[in-house]
Amino acid sequence: MKTLRVLTGITTSGTPHLGNYVGAVRPTVRASRLSEVESFYFLADYHALIKVGDPARVQRSTLEIAATWLACGLDPEQVTFYRQSDIPEIPELTWLLTCVTGKGVLNRAHAYKASVDKNTAAGEEPDAGVTAGLFMYPVLMAADILMFNAHQVPVGRDQIQHIEMARDMASSFNHLYGEHFTLPEAAIEDHVATLPGLDGRKMSKSYDNTIPLFAPRDQLKKLIMGIVTDSRAPGEPKDTEGSALFQLYQAFASTEETAALAKAYADGIAWGDAKQVLFERLDAEIAPMRLVYDELIQNPAQIEKTLKMGADKARAVATPFTARLRHAVGLRPLDNLADTQKTAKAAKAAAPSFKQYREADGLFYFKLMDAKGQLLLQSTGYASPKEAAKTIAELQKSGTNALAEDPTSVFFKADPEAVSSALRYFSEASN
Ligand code: TRP
Repeated sequence: MKTLRVLTGITTSGTPHLGNYVGAVRPTVRASRLSEVESFYFLADYHALIKVGDPARVQRSTLEIAATWLACGLDPEQVTFYRQSDIPEIPELTWLLTCVTGKGVLNRAHAYKASVDKNTAAGEEPDAGVTAGLFMYPVLMAADILMFNAHQVPVGRDQIQHIEMARDMASSFNHLYGEHFTLPEAAIEDHVATLPGLDGRKMSKSYDNTIPLFAPRDQLKKLIMGIVTDSRAPGEPKDTEGSALFQLYQAFASTEETAALAKAYADGIAWGDAKQVLFERLDAEIAPMRLVYDELIQNPAQIEKTLKMGADKARAVATPFTARLRHAVGLRPLDNLADTQKTAKAAKAAAPSFKQYREADGLFYFKLMDAKGQLLLQSTGYASPKEAAKTIAELQKSGTNALAEDPTSVFFKADPEAVSSALRYFSEASN
């Protein structure tokens, strides 16, 4: 059963490099193959407009990033793989969230603050050259995440604040309009290395020190030969510590291969030879994917088709969910005013509810009550509120079937039919 929804996006503002591959593409493709995970991966092209004013570059980057994900093994049949701008519900949700977000909260966003600090230091107006798009960046990102009620969002450390903001927006909205959004969490992969670039600093577009993932073989070789090293001569022992070359190798090689290179360093391998070893190892992993990539790039129509299929899948979720949100905030048709008032009242009166709480034993519990406040289900204690919430979410989605794997996680306090019918309320409400 798929219980964990994982979502992440890549901004379509450049050509994917080795750092993107090791830090984002490779781990997400691997995660997408786990059977319990339902993955949403997308091309964040609305986000690209914040940084890039060159339409051709946005389009080219969209093609390249889509081809990269596919060439690296993402299976569009297994995951929901789409382009952000194919989902008009996302900008719509951005507006709904904008209206529950404090302006002061956005003032504190790192990217915006960095621009203000830079301006201030230069003696300029604080907001000089800052677009409202940059200011709103975190809200658009929250809409990406909350639209699909993602539990986990794999991102780099620089994005943690954005996920926290998305949680806050979800809470504010839920508080005002009822429980509609799952509170997302950042998933940070501690063991995923930050790759050094050609000059030894972090590999990044902004330092212009990147190695494009799918550079042709001879160009890849040339770039690798240009990685900075120290001036030790062949025969002199070399330090692995702080060696960009070594770190790059480590990100691709097995433990044994890495140990062998460490030994070669100690034995005084010439830098030229070490670079050759790195080049061969990199190319061994990349070459088969490069073949697929080059073919895909020649077939943009096929990628377009794949993305359209992904958009259909994504909108099968986004369209009804947006209808529910519109209703929740009061964007409703007028011709059934009496009806909506009546049904809202009736729904409220007939609604069962989950309550989460903590006991003196430090554990987290929940219970399910019917509309009259009668206890239907009582959970056992969980170590974290997240685990309790996960079980609630499963019960809401799949009813008592969700208990098949762990029937002892709750006690029935009423007859199973009453419990099932209360749970059906949640699965129907979300359809
Ligand atoms: N801001 C992310 C980045 O620059 C890209 C992104 C946009 C994203 N929307 C997202 C990542 C939603 C995760 C979830 O890396």
